[in-house]
Amino acid sequence: MALPKRYLVTSALPYANGLKHVGHLAGAYIPADIYVRYLRAQHRDVVFVCGSDEHGTAIPIQAMKENTTPRAIIDKYHEAMKEDFADLAISFDIYHRTSEPLHHETAQEFFTYLHERGELETKETEQYYDESANTFLADRYIKGTCPNCGSDRAFGDQCENCGTSLSPDELINPVSTLSGNPPVKKKTTHWYLPLGRHEEFLTKWILQEHKEDWRPTVVGQCKSWIEGGLQSRAVTRDLDWGIKVPLKDADGKVLYVWFDAPIGYISATKQWALDHQKDWKPYWYDNDTQLVHFIGKDNIVFHCIIFPVMLKLHGNILPTNVPANEFLNLEGDKMSTSRNWKLDMRDYITDFVKKENGGGQCVDMLRYYLTQIAPETKDSEFTWKGFQDAVNSELGSIFGNFENRTFVLMHKLCKGKVPPLHTNILDDTDQQLIDKIKETAKLVGDLIEQYKFRDALYEVIDLARAGNKYMQKKEPWIRARQVDENGQVTAEAQASIDNCLHLCLQLTANLAILANPFLPFTAKEMLHKMKVVDKMLEWKNAGQIKLLSVGYSLREPKVLFRQIDDTEIAAQVEKLKAGLVASQQDAANDKQEIAEKKEDKPLKEEIQFDDFAKIDLRVGTITQAEKVPKADKLLKLEVDLGFEKKNGGIRHCTSFRT
Ligand code: 2FM
Ligand code: ZN
Repeated sequence: MALPKRYLVTSALPYANGLKHVGHLAGAYIPADIYVRYLRAQHRDVVFVCGSDEHGTAIPIQAMKENTTPRAIIDKYHEAMKEDFADLAISFDIYHRTSEPLHHETAQEFFTYLHERGELETKETEQYYDESANTFLADRYIKGTCPNCGSDRAFGDQCENCGTSLSPDELINPVSTLSGNPPVKKKTTHWYLPLGRHEEFLTKWILQEHKEDWRPTVVGQCKSWIEGGLQSRAVTRDLDWGIKVPLKDADGKVLYVWFDAPIGYISATKQWALDHQKDWKPYWYDNDTQLVHFIGKDNIVFHCIIFPVMLKLHGNILPTNVPANEFLNLEGDKMSTSRNWKLDMRDYITDFVKKENGGGQCVDMLRYYLTQIAPETKDSEFTWKGFQDAVNSELGSIFGNFENRTFVLMHKLCKGKVPPLHTNILDDTDQQLIDKIKETAKLVGDLIEQYKFRDALYEVIDLARAGNKYMQKKEPWIRARQVDENGQVTAEAQASIDNCLHLCLQLTANLAILANPFLPFTAKEMLHKMKVVDKMLEWKNAGQIKLLSVGYSLREPKVLFRQIDDTEIAAQVEKLKAGLVASQQDAANDKQEIAEKKEDKPLKEEIQFDDFAKIDLRVGTITQAEKVPKADKLLKLEVDLGFEKKNGGIRHCTSFRT
């Protein structure tokens, strides 16, 4: 099959409201980076875009928590996330941001285009409003009791305790997080994307055309969305943080963050093109572009249903694949920022990469483990013990050990130079190794093209494993004991040693090429030791066994990966538990603060006894009670005071209005 002319690879734009954890890294960033490095190693035309998602309620909410402005929040976290990705060798061509004017223009143009063509509809609905703060309340600004688990810390969109998706109407005793008061319902008008109109297109495109080549988990989720009936989705919000709706009479309204964020991929491409004097348009309009979105499973509906409908209506290309990952759990529990049960990228960088014995090898250790446990088909789990085993027993004992033994023996038995290959004495064992190198090169490429990174990495390690077995079988150190009367290794024994180490060195060069997309620092380090230039890492060299020239002298051996000690992992597990305890303490403090705030309401001015005497308190009998039409919690009452009857209303059975 002909290769696509170009590739556009995207990783989900992370919210700029906090540092991101290794679950995010495993879900959307490492796999994309592997894919892109593999494509680049073939000089394919590829652009890898990402950036910070800087709108939505998550940003002002974080600003409230940190007692600062939304602008300060996005500036702070945009820089921090960008730095963390760079430290972990995620090689974006551009890391953009959705607060940039270029993005605002792009998103507004997109909205206008759909609106002018009648592709959006408007609807008036009733939404919660905070009368004291004078603002509509986004779902995240409403808190209450979860109807599912009873937690009193559920939000209007989701209960963080049990994970149930909610709508604000489902919350019991809702209160505004802005004022602490119960919100009221108020009418508002919004623009909607009528997804129902596109059901046929989505059914054909996903459930038929991509039934085989997309991951079953992705197709499965899409199927249940489509078969559940596609509802119109609001693409605007009443909020003062976001991209203004580009219409008259839309004051106070912004584009919904999930409308603008994926358009961020387009504006990032535009900015990249401006920076490199390229044309961005073919990447978004030419059908010969392979567009691939790397995301976590919580983003599937947006990338497989909503954004493709937007792209189709706007005349853009559609994604070729959306290899969404499932979730990565941590030490037996769901990773969660709110419960502080997580390993932030920044923490790993500080505790390993930037430590004295850290650096690139620690970056690759994490990349290795996160790929080895990648949640490609189902949720998987990060454990510190698993990390230690993966590093010490696989990366170190199989891959690193093979490379190190090869260098040690080559220096000891071949004078530090690439020995010749005596083809006349090649045997079956040698040939099997040569075949294995060739097969693995093809297999790793095929698996990466199918987004099966975990399997591809397994094959790389398996090749190193085959190298170890080969060496064990050939035993060049034993052959070296076959000496003549002058104490020289016999010619026959030396020829066998030469062949073994020649092939082991060619295998090492192949390992560098194949490992490069996964372990870029390691590949570089291996090149350095082999004294070859970057060009050797080109993918077309994979499977070749003439990569290192005979007689070429190589550098001294140096172990590629250090071992991870028990004490290091014990310290990390302790840290994790301490973080959880601290967050539980914070939550308890918050609760107490809220309770104290309620009690803290300023006292009204004291009144005189004369004022008090003006109050006429009576006990009456309720003789009639009827529901007030269109009000959920209001009753109309008739109260008999003995000498007269009075009418009034009662709300929540607590306050009495006349
Ligand atoms: O879930 C998230 O973190 C979103 N900020 C992802 C956005 S992906 C894309 F649409 F930009
Ligand atoms: Zn709940």
